[in-house]
Amino acid sequence: MNAPERGMLAMAAGCEAPRTAAVASGVDAMVDENRFRDVMSHLVTGVALVTSRLDGSVHGLTVNAVSSVSLNPPLVLVCLDRSGNSHDPVIASGSFAVSVLASDQEEMAHRFARGTHRERFAGVEFRDSSSGSPVLPDALAWLDCAIRAVHPAGDHSIVVGEVLGCGAGEGDPLVFFRSEYGR
Ligand SMILES: Cc1cc2nc3c(=O)[nH]c(=O)nc-3n(C[C@H](O)[C@H](O)[C@H](O)COP(=O)(O)O)c2cc1C
Repeated sequence: MNAPERGMLAMAAGCEAPRTAAVASGVDAMVDENRFRDVMSHLVTGVALVTSRLDGSVHGLTVNAVSSVSLNPPLVLVCLDRSGNSHDPVIASGSFAVSVLASDQEEMAHRFARGTHRERFAGVEFRDSSSGSPVLPDALAWLDCAIRAVHPAGDHSIVVGEVLGCGAGEGDPLVFFRSEYGR
């Protein structure tokens, strides 16, 4: 893609046209954190919990940075904030589960985005996956993953997991668009 095309894309997304010099260097000085977050919020995503167990303690957080990566072997990625409390224990555990939330599970999305890990798991019967990670029983879909790689990426880590088991049910997903939940 050439520089004018990149400029058109940026304008279509609500950004002002980047300066030519900035485009040439690949860095747009206009892209601060808030603008980037706002622009990316226009990409509709699902919402999931990433959970793991380390030395008997459960850890987990709400995520929307989840993607399939490879079919053979089956790989997914999740992006975890390196400054978060879940980052180190999830990676140290060597495995994690992804529970994709259904449209009626917004409360779980809120719960796993704040508070202590003890509060997040309180009163909900998670089941153990075969790798030992807690899975939300009535999740719309779930994946049980063994961590195969961790790539540093800015203030996050890209955690690549091989899918050891997975399943899906019926229902509508919880979706996230422009910082709001919907269906
Ligand atoms: C809809 C939604 C999506 C989120 N996606 C991510 C994500 O992909 N990666 C991430 O590290 N944090 C994400 N967060 C933020 C974390 O859930 C939140 O900061 C949480 O408190 C981190 O927990 P921790 O301190 O145990 O790591 C998201 C939050 C919400 C509400």
